[in-house]
Amino acid sequence: MKKIITLPGDGIGPEIMDAALSVLDVASEGQFEYEIAEHAIGGHGIDSQGHPFPEATREACLTADAILLGAIGGPKWEQSEVTPEMGLLQMRKVLGLFSNLRPIQLNETLIDRSPLKPEIVSGTDMMIVRELTGGLYFGEPKWEKEDEALDTTQYSRSEIERIIHLAFKQAQNRRNHLTSVDKANVLSTSRLWRRIVNEIAPQYPDVHVDHLYIDAASMKLVTHPKDFDVVVTANLFGDILSDEASVITGSLGMMPSASMNEQGLGLYEPIHGSAPDIAGKNLANPMSMIYSITMMLRTSFEEFELADKIEAACEAVMARNIMTKDMGGTETTESFTQAVITELRK
Ligand code: NAD
Ligand code: IPM
Ligand code: MN
Repeated sequence: MKKIITLPGDGIGPEIMDAALSVLDVASEGQFEYEIAEHAIGGHGIDSQGHPFPEATREACLTADAILLGAIGGPKWEQSEVTPEMGLLQMRKVLGLFSNLRPIQLNETLIDRSPLKPEIVSGTDMMIVRELTGGLYFGEPKWEKEDEALDTTQYSRSEIERIIHLAFKQAQNRRNHLTSVDKANVLSTSRLWRRIVNEIAPQYPDVHVDHLYIDAASMKLVTHPKDFDVVVTANLFGDILSDEASVITGSLGMMPSASMNEQGLGLYEPIHGSAPDIAGKNLANPMSMIYSITMMLRTSFEEFELADKIEAACEAVMARNIMTKDMGGTETTESFTQAVITELRK
């Protein structure tokens, strides 16, 4: 019996979590046994337990076989001293979730949903490997005064080495091409990053490596997306590049991710946020959460058939133009989810 900790969080988080769990429930019948324990995070943690990453949540996560997170944050807590985002970052740090894999896979039947030209996006299949527990997000000192503020970007050799090795291994399991993205023309952390990539490269002679500056990479990502296989980059650059890459698939609401620690614990979450503009309106696309679950099934549980079955059902439904609004459809979260469930029961 696998123990899955669910952290629905704020805004559309609980809506897409409910939808995706109901899909898992129907799909897994008789195939995969699991138990779910739900815990608070983000704004919900602040409101219910006075902390965005409550002690009970932390303890539960430490005993989990896998963790599913919806989304955190929202206008209600923007001005708070302690924010939902702090809880998310603390969780990543405490659990040691140093690597964040963000796949950008284009379903060819949905090619017309991208605002980009079909000939540009066709054939896109890339994996953004984002460093998740270092860099500008976590560097000290960090402070804010009335008229001045400071953030620090720091990376140690070991922090860079472990994410670079992971990215090379990803490339070996894909199309043997690694693009490292940095700002080595300006930043010293980037120069160290680039030096370490070049030092490690000979250990993976079957992988072709190239380097791009973040500004040029941002352009190339949407003009030549199929030139990329694995992209490895620092925390902040990966955050931005992956939201940009979502336009290739048509919507941020399609984008899952997997965060892993050195012990192999996985946390799976959409790359998007709590979408306050559509929260509570039954409009959210649950695909990001469903794909997060299929990443969990494959990565944490080796349930490949079950993951394939769920994705095939979703894709069959979407191929019939049954989609939520963000993808140009007319379905609600619930009606789309119901269509997937009906497809699974066929
Ligand atoms: P957002 O990702 O929440 O939303 C950006 C846009 O994408 C919005 O128009 C939203 O409606 C749309 N969108 C996102 N997910 C969607 C889905 N599943 N279906 C349909 N449309 C979807 O970004 P934001 O508005 O800049 O941030 C809102 C809050 O979320 C902030 O508090 C931010 O800090 C937080 N946030 C949390 C996470 C996380 O939990 N991992 C990630 C990003 C942002
Ligand atoms: C993400 C989010 C978070 C990040 C925020 C909410 C702290 O944007 O998961 O991509 O920047 O990592
Ligand atoms: Mn982000």
